[in-house]
Amino acid sequence: MRLILLGAPGAGKGTVAKMLTELDGSVQISTGDILRGAVKAGSDLGKKAKGYMDAGDLVPDELILDIMATRLQEPDAAKGFLLDGFPRTIPQAEALTEMLNKLSIKLDAVVNIDVPRDVILDRLTTRRTCSNSACQEIYNVKTKPPKVEGVCDKCGSPVIQRDDETKEAISKRLDTYNEKTAPLAGYYEKTGQLLTVSSTSSDEVVAAIRERVGA
Ligand code: AP5
Repeated sequence: MRLILLGAPGAGKGTVAKMLTELDGSVQISTGDILRGAVKAGSDLGKKAKGYMDAGDLVPDELILDIMATRLQEPDAAKGFLLDGFPRTIPQAEALTEMLNKLSIKLDAVVNIDVPRDVILDRLTTRRTCSNSACQEIYNVKTKPPKVEGVCDKCGSPVIQRDDETKEAISKRLDTYNEKTAPLAGYYEKTGQLLTVSSTSSDEVVAAIRERVGA
C-alpha cells in the first residue's frame, strides 16, 4: 500500500507504520529516522540537521526534498511505502504531489491520526527508542517496556531517550506541528484522499486503514 501518515509528534505514526509493514511488505520511510541516522553517522546532512532537530524545529524543506526524491525511487519502495513524518509543510506536500505525478504513483490514502494533547505529552515523555539506526524499535516505559531494561528485544542494542525529548523540545515540536503541519489535513481533504482516525488505539487505526484500502 502507498500511504502518508499524518499526526502530531507521538500520535503513533511510527508504531502504526511498523504494524502495517508486517501486512504486505510495504516499507516504512521515516524522515525522522533517516535524519537521526545521519546525525549519528556524523554526515554532512546530519551536521546540518542536528541543531534544528534538538530544538524541535523543522529541518529546511530543500534538505528533506533531496532525501525523498532519491528514497522514493529505491527498489524496496516499489512494493509500497508508508510515509512517516513526510510531508510536514505545504511546500513539501506540493513537491511530493509533483514527484508522485512524475513517477506515475498513486497514493491509496492520507491518514491523519488524531490523538488528544494530554495523551501525546504522556507518551513522548515515556517513549524509549532502540539506538541502532538499522532497528529503531519503539518502546514505552509504561505500556511496552523492553524485556531487559535498557536493552532492545530485537537487536540487543541500548534503548535510549531521544535528544529531542526534553520538555522544551517536545513543547516546541507540538507548536511547530500546529503551525506548519496541521494545515496539511486541509490540503489533502481537498484532494479527497484524507482519512482521519480519532483513536488512541493503534490497532483501531490499523483496522480503519485496512478497511479503507481493502488490505
Ligand atoms: P520525527 O521522528 O518524524 O518525529 P515526530 O513527528 O515528532 O514523531 P514521533 O516519532 O515523535 O512520533 P510518532 O507519531 O511516530 O509516535 P510513536 O509511534 O513513536 O521527527 C523528528 C525531527 O526530525 C523533527 O522535529 C524535525 O526536526 C525533523 N524532521 C523529520 N521529518 C521532517 C520533515 N519532513 N521536514 C522537516 N523536518 C523534519 O509513538 C510515541 C509513543 O507512544 C511511543 O512510546 C509508543 O510506544 C507510544 N504509543 C504509540 N501508540 C500507542 C498506543 N496506541 N497506545 C499506547 N502507547 C502508544
